[in-house]
Amino acid sequence: MRDILDQLEQRRQAARLGGGEARIAAQHKKGKLTARERIEVLLDEGSFEEYDMYVTHRCVDFGMEGQKVPGDGVVTGWGTINGRQVYVFSQDFTVLGGSLSETHAQKICKVMDMAARVGAPVIGLNDSGGARIQEGVASLAGYAEVFRRNAEVSGVIPQISVIMGPCAGGAVYSPAMTDFIFMVRDSSYMFVTGPDVVKTVTNEIVTAEELGGAATHTKKSSVADGAFDNDVEALMRVRDLFDFLPLSNREKPPVRPFYDDPARLDMRLDTLIPDSATKPYDMRELILAIADEGDFFEIAESFARNILTGFIRIEGQTVGVVANQPMVLAGCLDIDSSRKAAKFVRFCDAFNIPLLTLVDVPGFLPGTSQEYNGIIKHGAKLLFAYSQATVPMVTLITRKAYGGAYDVMASKHIGADVNYAWPTAEIAVMGAKGATEILYRSELGDAEKIARRTSDYEERFANPFVAAERGFIDEVIMPHSSRRRIARAFAALRSKKQDCLWRKHDTIPL
Ligand code: HXC
Repeated sequence: MRDILDQLEQRRQAARLGGGEARIAAQHKKGKLTARERIEVLLDEGSFEEYDMYVTHRCVDFGMEGQKVPGDGVVTGWGTINGRQVYVFSQDFTVLGGSLSETHAQKICKVMDMAARVGAPVIGLNDSGGARIQEGVASLAGYAEVFRRNAEVSGVIPQISVIMGPCAGGAVYSPAMTDFIFMVRDSSYMFVTGPDVVKTVTNEIVTAEELGGAATHTKKSSVADGAFDNDVEALMRVRDLFDFLPLSNREKPPVRPFYDDPARLDMRLDTLIPDSATKPYDMRELILAIADEGDFFEIAESFARNILTGFIRIEGQTVGVVANQPMVLAGCLDIDSSRKAAKFVRFCDAFNIPLLTLVDVPGFLPGTSQEYNGIIKHGAKLLFAYSQATVPMVTLITRKAYGGAYDVMASKHIGADVNYAWPTAEIAVMGAKGATEILYRSELGDAEKIARRTSDYEERFANPFVAAERGFIDEVIMPHSSRRRIARAFAALRSKKQDCLWRKHDTIPL
């Protein structure tokens, strides 16, 4: 019996060594943790239960018989984050570059299936050279099995991807189908084809960092939702995000103890809006003032900065925030901000996360570049996402809510439950100057007349009361009482239920 136990321990030791000491040292030298070390940081201490530690590949081509490593380049199993269950897979770059074989894929599929069955999120720690070249179509088939599951469980369980090394080929498409992607600066890359192939095909000379580094994907392509300085920081922040999310679409988000009075008044908000309508202010200040303990987990912070998206808590409950940011492009809606916000709204709606929308929007961004690239279609995504959302929705208009953008930004008409405005709100088809110039074109030569017309228009529309008279705004609130009023609104909506018409799925404009 003792021998048998010793043999088991030896097998375990061999599996834990992955690709061996030298490759582990190389991994550390690059500033990267190993697959197992990452799991240790991500999960609660001692909570990890590993599966399939002894799985090896079945490939016999290209001398692969001699290259069997137990576990086959991916560590899989489940554990807990602050006591809540989560399934994980962590690719081991020390084993054949973390490349995906048929059996490596089967291990990932197994944890995905289990996660779907029990209703727990999946976190994938990706560090892979893509399809295992020696296995040919078997590895492509493996990827496709993973992709299909990514789609199947989308909106059923949260899926989070952390990119922690060079991810090429198929290794980027599975993350792309998950809900959130985070990268590690200077050590992670994502591309469909690497710099060498790019040079051969297009003659472009580009570094891996420029082509698919964290800066590229968080600022330009919007493939990634955030970037962190090292493995440990990335994993710790994923733990923070996890705490905001429900385990599945069958559950409500977790409620955390809170020490911040929901009725807390913030007198600074009474002077947040500048005297001049064209002066910007930082909408983040309002979000922090509303959030429990000023805690805001921002999503896609570096992309489309004219809109802010992220999670806060109010009375310990998770709330998704979408807010125009007047500091960037005057907070207008354009292609990028519409897409960013639409994706976020759909995630929140799928996972029972109430939505708070803070509005200061001068309209959609005009221009040929926007029109040629399809602002109509992309703007419609946000309109569609809000119109379809059935979670509790509270909207607060702080200043401008002009034109179509008023409708889009969670207006009463497309389904918000409670709509507040500050007394500084201006709800109109367009700004006073533009409106007067169209309505009184024949008087344009007469500056005095135009000035009078403009001030008449402002008096009539540059306030929230025309909308409030119609019931489109439920209450005009004091800025300093925003947190209290919003907390009360969400409390009243906790038991909201709204059914949808039967359908197979919608046809959102993509
Ligand atoms: C098998 C692989 C591999 C792969 C890397 N390795 N990628 N083995 N299949 N796809 C092995 C290497 O041979 C090497 O083995 C070890 O992993 C480490 O790789 P290095 O190249 O030494 O590391 P590094 O210099 O850091 O470069 C990492 C890399 C590079 C950028 C990922 O290895 C690379 O470009 N790999 C190929 C990427 C690729 O084209 N993948 C196929 C994509 S097609 P030794 O024994 O020397 O340590 C695809 C199709 C799916 O994925 C599409 C679905 C839509």
